[in-house]
Amino acid sequence: APLAGVIGMPIAHSRSPRLHAHWLRRYGLPGHYVPLPVMPEHLAEVLRILPRAGFVGANVTIPHKEAVIALADSVSDRAALIGAANTLIFRPDGRIHADNTDGYGFIANLRQSAPDWQPAAGPAAVIGAGGAARAVVASLLDSGVPELRITNRTRLRSDQIKAEFGARLVVYDWAQAGNMLDSAATVVNATSLGMQGKQPLRVPMDALSPDALVTDLVYTPLMTPFLAEAQARGCRIVDGLGMLLHQAAPGFERWFGQRPEVDDETRRIVL
Ligand code: ATR
Repeated sequence: APLAGVIGMPIAHSRSPRLHAHWLRRYGLPGHYVPLPVMPEHLAEVLRILPRAGFVGANVTIPHKEAVIALADSVSDRAALIGAANTLIFRPDGRIHADNTDGYGFIANLRQSAPDWQPAAGPAAVIGAGGAARAVVASLLDSGVPELRITNRTRLRSDQIKAEFGARLVVYDWAQAGNMLDSAATVVNATSLGMQGKQPLRVPMDALSPDALVTDLVYTPLMTPFLAEAQARGCRIVDGLGMLLHQAAPGFERWFGQRPEVDDETRRIVL
């Protein structure tokens, strides 16, 4: 049976093994998906060995998403642009292909959760400029947003994203995050603020239109303080769990041969 897994450190908290086990069961497919705790200094060695041990691929998570780009034999354009990979495909000869499905997962979740969402209807506003934000920015630009506004506590990282992703980007100062929401059609929290045990994301929302779609990459809790305030202002909100589920689908299909569906049962299994 084909083997796949998720490579990270720590990895015990990862929800991916439960998700893939659920899909394998649902479709009656042979295969196993396991957590693989790997130290950074062992990553290269483990990647060379896994294809020899029956693995057809792997997901990659913190802290390895950037490092695998340099270790892979081929890298998709989007993974190269984002500078990080989350999905590896092992070829029969052991060669490793690295891809990034985070942006796909982000967009697929919005399209499923808010079918009437129109990315071209107005500017998108992205709060945060880390690895997750880079995938979100790439996918929003692909989806046809007319303008992409970005802000980050560390301004240098948003300036870097503008330098790499180009003309449609407008960088806002962290102190001006509230102004960035004015006339935005799509608003995304791509920071880790609002996660259990962290401070909430505090952005003045007076300029936010009730027509905006607001989403958060944080999914513990599902209803972050940021989403709760947007909902109180009449906005359509989408939580972050769906992105996690949708980003996993392309890997599952490549490794196990069946495109998996993301539905309410999938959400319940992973929560
Ligand atoms: P990820 O891969 O999840 O994006 P990351 O690259 O570490 O992880 O990025 C975390 C994001 O959350 C960054 O935008 C970070 O801002 P900085 O670039 O200034 O570090 C943001 N973030 C984390 N803690 C924060 C805090 N206390 N206040 C403001 N932003 C914070």
